[in-house]
Amino acid sequence: MAVRVDRRAVLAAAGALLAGASTSCTGGSVPARGPATDLLEGRDWAHFAGAVPTRAGVRITRLDRRITRQDGSGGQPNPPVNLRGPHLVFRGDLRIEALLTRPAGTDAYLHLYGETPVVYDEWRQERRGARIGVAGGRIRFDRWDGDSDRPAVTRAFGRDFGDEVRLAVEVRGSRLVLEADGKAVGSVPGRDVFGRGRIWFGADAQGDGDGWTLGGLRAMPLGRGRMSVQDAPALEVPRSTDALRDLAADLDRPIRIGTALAAGPLLTDSDYRETAGEEFSLLTPENDFKPQFVQPRRGVFAFQEGDSLVDFAAANDMQVHAHTLVWFEALPSWMRAEMTHADRRRVMTEHIRAVAGHFRGRVAEWDVVNEPMSDEDEDYTNDNLGLRPHLWFEAMGERYIDIAFRTAREADPHAVLYLNEYGVEEDGPRWDALHALLIRLMERGVPIDGVGFQNHEYAPGDRTDPEVFRRKVRALARLGLKARVSEMDVLVGVGEEDVQARQFAGKLAVCREEPNCTSFSTWGFTDRYGSTADIRHYPPSPGDALPWDASYEAKPAYWALRDALSRSDSGRR
Ligand code: XIL
Repeated sequence: MAVRVDRRAVLAAAGALLAGASTSCTGGSVPARGPATDLLEGRDWAHFAGAVPTRAGVRITRLDRRITRQDGSGGQPNPPVNLRGPHLVFRGDLRIEALLTRPAGTDAYLHLYGETPVVYDEWRQERRGARIGVAGGRIRFDRWDGDSDRPAVTRAFGRDFGDEVRLAVEVRGSRLVLEADGKAVGSVPGRDVFGRGRIWFGADAQGDGDGWTLGGLRAMPLGRGRMSVQDAPALEVPRSTDALRDLAADLDRPIRIGTALAAGPLLTDSDYRETAGEEFSLLTPENDFKPQFVQPRRGVFAFQEGDSLVDFAAANDMQVHAHTLVWFEALPSWMRAEMTHADRRRVMTEHIRAVAGHFRGRVAEWDVVNEPMSDEDEDYTNDNLGLRPHLWFEAMGERYIDIAFRTAREADPHAVLYLNEYGVEEDGPRWDALHALLIRLMERGVPIDGVGFQNHEYAPGDRTDPEVFRRKVRALARLGLKARVSEMDVLVGVGEEDVQARQFAGKLAVCREEPNCTSFSTWGFTDRYGSTADIRHYPPSPGDALPWDASYEAKPAYWALRDALSRSDSGRR
């Protein structure tokens, strides 16, 4: 259901003001303006994170979204992009006009993305784009050139701008010309920033206050320029009958074949979208459901990217395996701040109630607790019983797991609830401690339904024997628990395609054969957006870890997965 901006309201609030702006600046060298297209009226701003369409325009909530560092400190800003809204396709020169209304002390920014950023949860690849806004009474401009997180150009113009500012940006030849309240305020070099002839929009609020209002937004070609507006693509993609998901559905005991997906590429890259919908029957949100995205400020929720993934699943008859409610990573800074144990517990249960409640009935499964086991030997010999002594454990002890599952069950009674962990596919103290934990949870009547085995293989030492994994799956069956392969990727070097293919297929075969294994999911499917990319460089170089390469060519791993689903020796229909 696309909630669109109300036509009359926006026209009443902003039309006249912007029309005034667009005729007030004339002069010999000013190119003629073509017809203006309204970018709010009738366009989708309801799926833009933090945005609320109102009578006065689009209200931009201050989200303070950041890519938090592992130590919980600040991190790179991560303002949202309106990927399901309108974007411009143009040639030659063009003019964009916006009306920004803000309370004193709130800084209001409009982002113009020549290329949309790629967002991981530990890193955001800022590609080419510009930002213009009003901050501290001045007009601020930044330009990113796609070679760094930081802007290549930062400028400030004028002073004493009021609460309501009419901004305009013109792409004119090789320069960007900036205008505020009908007067030119400056010009900066920068045509290349929009060299692909596309502009997506984003907005961000900073400083004090809860946000500001985008009262109008429109664009028009200049001189001999050409411009059109495109809305987001349809989410439903064509289906074949012979993809991985079909092979898995045709088994005597059907299972689901899944992958982790991200809203960014899903809405901007048609190859990604089509392959995802065609091949997979289950999706895990790679990052878009994590706390730093959905609750960036305490009590301020932004579910829009997550909702887009859920909509995509519904449009393509896929299920959603939601990921994740309680983890020690991907937390917004405020969640890691010092607080009392009672408050920490409240933060956890409120987060679970709000997030699982929001997606209730629309997702099939949840990773309720992610990665509870410790990486430190000492935690296996002391009182921690192998559990990671993170902030949730510190506040509640092992019972944080009980509380999390009970709260999730209440919030979404029909979802299948999982604990998800890495490094437990093999024998050793980590598995032993997890197994003992599961027995304690079952004895206490904790509503846990299954365990996800991540199966990340980042290095040769991570490779595990499918038969050892099979014993783990069977041990869960004896406890009455389901199992799944939840996040498999196999990072390999040059010439190791067969190793990769064997690893993927071996685990899938086990899942197919063991009656309590419900699904097999890879952690992404194309190296173009794989989470093993080498991010020390800018832009990152893709890792070789997934069944499709960075150009969407299927690798031997893909054919091996098909083979593991097609072999008749363990009972296809
Ligand atoms: C990863 C994401 O894929 C990356 O984009 C991010 O930068 C780091 O986290 N175990 C998990 C996943 O449960 O959530 C992690 O996802 C990979 C390890």
